[in-house]
Amino acid sequence: MSLREEVEVAFINHFGGEPDIVVCAPGRVNLIGEHTDYNGGFVMPMAIDRAMYIAVRYRRDDTVVLLSADFNHKARFNLKKFNYIKPHWCEYIKGVAHALQRRNLSLRGWDGAMLGNVPRGSGLSSSAALELAAAKAFSEVSNFPWDPVDMAVAGQEAENNWVGVNCGIMDQMISACGKAGHAYLLDCRSLKGEHVPLPDGVRVVILDTATRRGLVDSAYNERRSQCEDAAKFFGVELLRDVSPEAFFKRADELPECTRKRARHVITEDQRTLAAAEAMRSGDSKRLGQLMYESHVSLRDDFEVCNDALNTMVECAMAHPACLGARMTGAGFGGCAVALVREDAAADFEREVAAAYQQATQLEPAVYVCVATDGARRL
Ligand code: GLA
Repeated sequence: MSLREEVEVAFINHFGGEPDIVVCAPGRVNLIGEHTDYNGGFVMPMAIDRAMYIAVRYRRDDTVVLLSADFNHKARFNLKKFNYIKPHWCEYIKGVAHALQRRNLSLRGWDGAMLGNVPRGSGLSSSAALELAAAKAFSEVSNFPWDPVDMAVAGQEAENNWVGVNCGIMDQMISACGKAGHAYLLDCRSLKGEHVPLPDGVRVVILDTATRRGLVDSAYNERRSQCEDAAKFFGVELLRDVSPEAFFKRADELPECTRKRARHVITEDQRTLAAAEAMRSGDSKRLGQLMYESHVSLRDDFEVCNDALNTMVECAMAHPACLGARMTGAGFGGCAVALVREDAAADFEREVAAAYQQATQLEPAVYVCVATDGARRL
C-alpha cells in the first residue's frame, strides 16, 4: 500500500467516512550550501520522495481535529481561540494556523489524519514537511491561493515564534518550492530561486549515520551568533555581504574561532554558486568535488560534524562509484549525502552500509532518493 492509501485508510478507520482530499509536503536533502541560509547566502537543496501526508475532510465549524497515525495520538483545537500548551506535534499545526491568521487569512476547520515517512531527527526536515502539509491543508479547506514562498515563510514563522526553534528558511522553501528532477538554488536573502536539473547518470544517496545528538539547538544558536559577530566586524548585517577578497584581507584580525566560522560561510557561498554552474553544464565530477570540499569546511572550520558523520563520508568517498559526499543539514549527527554513479548505485548502497557498520558497529540506513515536487494536493 502506498503512503497515500495508508493515510486514507487511517482516516476512514478513525473518522468513519472518506476524506475529501489528500495533501502532502516533502522532506529535503541539501546538496550544498550548509549553514548559509541564516547568513542570507545560497543553498541548493532538493525535495525528496519522503513526505508528510494529510487526509483531510472539510468541516463547517472552526475546529481542527487531528489524528497522528504515526504516534496514534489525537489532538484538537479551535481556530478562534488557541494558545501554546507544551512541546507536541500539534503545536506545529497551531503555529502554522497562527502564522496564516496573522496574514488576515480566514481559516476554516477540518478533520485530518496525518502519516509521514520522513525520519524524525535525522536532518531531513520532517518539521518543515509537517508545516507545509498543514499550510496546504488550510489553503485547500479555506480556499485561499497558494503562494509557495509566502507559505514557506509562514512555516518558518511557526517554527521560530510558536514552536521556538530558531531555524533558517531553507527547509520550508524547498518543501514548498521543490521540483521533480531538480535541485533548487536559492538566494536566502531575496528568496529568489532557480530550479537546476540534476546531471544525467548520477543518483543522490542519503546516508543516515543512525546517530542523533541532543543539544543541537544550543550548538546551532551558538554558530548563528558567531556568524553575527563576524558580520558585525565587517560592518555588514549578513555575512553574505562579505566577499572572499574582503574577508581574506582582514581575516587575521579576527579571533580564531570567529575567523573559522566566517571562512566556512563565505567559501560555502562560493562553492554553492560553483556547484549550480557545474550542474548547469552537466559536470557531475566537479559537483562531487565541491560537495566534499564543503564537508571538509564543515568539519574543520564550522565544526558541526561528529565522528559518525566523518566516518560515513570517508566510507562513501572510498567507494569507486562515489563522486562526492558530505554531511547534510544542521549536523552533529543525522545524515550525510553522496553523489553516486547511477550504474553502481545499488552496489554503493550495500557496500558503504557494510563498511560503515564495520567501522562503527552502528546500523546505518542508506538509500537512493529521488527529487520530487514540493507541497501539493494529490
Ligand atoms: C537546519 C535549519 C536550516 C539550515 C540548516 C543548516 O536544517 O533548519 O535552516 O540552517 O540547519 O544549513
